[in-house]
Amino acid sequence: MKFTRSKALKGELTVPGDKSISHRAVMFGALAEGLTEVEGFLPGADCLSTIDCFRRMGIAIEEKESTRILIQGKGLHGLKKPSQVLDTGNSGTTTRLISGILSGQSFETTLTGDTSIQKRPMGRIIEPLSLMGASIESLNGNGCAPLRILGHPLHGIHYTTKVASAQVKSAILLAGLYGDSPTSVTEPALSRNHTELMLNSFGAKVQTEGTTAAIEPRPHLIGQKILVPGDISSAAYFLAAGCITPGSEILIRNVGINPTRDGILRVCQMMKADVRILPIDSQTDEPMADLLVKASDLQGCILEGELIPALIDEIPVIAVMACFAKGTTVIRDAAELKVKESNRIDVMVKNLSAMGAHITATEDGMIIEGGYPLHGAVIDSHLDHRIAMSFAVAGLNADRETKILGAECVNISYPAFYEDLKYLQQS
Ligand code: S3P
Repeated sequence: MKFTRSKALKGELTVPGDKSISHRAVMFGALAEGLTEVEGFLPGADCLSTIDCFRRMGIAIEEKESTRILIQGKGLHGLKKPSQVLDTGNSGTTTRLISGILSGQSFETTLTGDTSIQKRPMGRIIEPLSLMGASIESLNGNGCAPLRILGHPLHGIHYTTKVASAQVKSAILLAGLYGDSPTSVTEPALSRNHTELMLNSFGAKVQTEGTTAAIEPRPHLIGQKILVPGDISSAAYFLAAGCITPGSEILIRNVGINPTRDGILRVCQMMKADVRILPIDSQTDEPMADLLVKASDLQGCILEGELIPALIDEIPVIAVMACFAKGTTVIRDAAELKVKESNRIDVMVKNLSAMGAHITATEDGMIIEGGYPLHGAVIDSHLDHRIAMSFAVAGLNADRETKILGAECVNISYPAFYEDLKYLQQS
């Protein structure tokens, strides 16, 4: 995929459904009794991996349209042992959340994923789930997938996590559904809370106080109708492109703006971007807004502390924005970037440097001196969807040609990304 300098991006679009919420709708729908109907589902490869895993455990899931699916839930104890290894593809959310669920089953399962998943740390779920009573073995002995999980009757625990991770928190809370007493998780900072909100809407009792979430065991979950908002992590590419591409004006409709996910909006404000948030009635626990972005003179800023979990997936594209900002942008407390779909500190610094940016890697983030024009380069996406999309945005604002290798990996979270970008160039 190749990009050159773009004219203004103009028009209106709706981004695909939220990836985190789409995964959870399938999982909780499978564990509930009766029909769950999901509208606005993200038909990206990651969420399709989740559907595949639950079908293999005997759950009927019908794709009415690619974004409207029906799940015939069988209750907390309705899953059956899959006849083969479960394949979670590229999806960390599928791998970690499903491990929590499998820990409470009365059968043994093996799960694995692609080469990226097989390098991602699973010790962070193996430890708490084992403390709850599950037997989990990393088959290569390296703390990564493939994992063999033998479920057991579980005990409730209180667990303090080392990192703010919604995947770890959710794995523990989901195992907590099968506990003999309440389970609670305390994190160093609040991570996205979609699990807590959605489990409650299915009839579970999850309470949150500060950075602690506590769940009552063995609830009776009932199928629901779930409306999935647009993914703010996908909207972020258009927020960034709209800010840095001269003359642009883009309206992004129906975006989820849950406060545990809205860090990109706070950064836009810190960078003095012209972004207007136009709230709409979502009629669910997940707040939504239309976002109007216009080309802006950006200022560098400091991103750190509790803000980081609220924008962790947006840091690659924020780094691109920082190249176009006046002054220095410092990103710290973000060592988690090293264990995402790729090592996003290394990959961003290497690729942006190749385009002429002034960027330095640090132990837990990066430092970017803005204001140095970018030029085209050959970009290795490392098959990381967020890297590919970030460099498409950069390539629209660089001299000469930018070529992205492995560009098709956007199908993980945003299959129509390049078409939507082209549409804004033609409007
Ligand atoms: C996710 C949580 C985050 C995020 C990922 C999706 C989720 O990961 O980066 O893309 O759906 O719970 P961590 O829990 O590892 O921070």
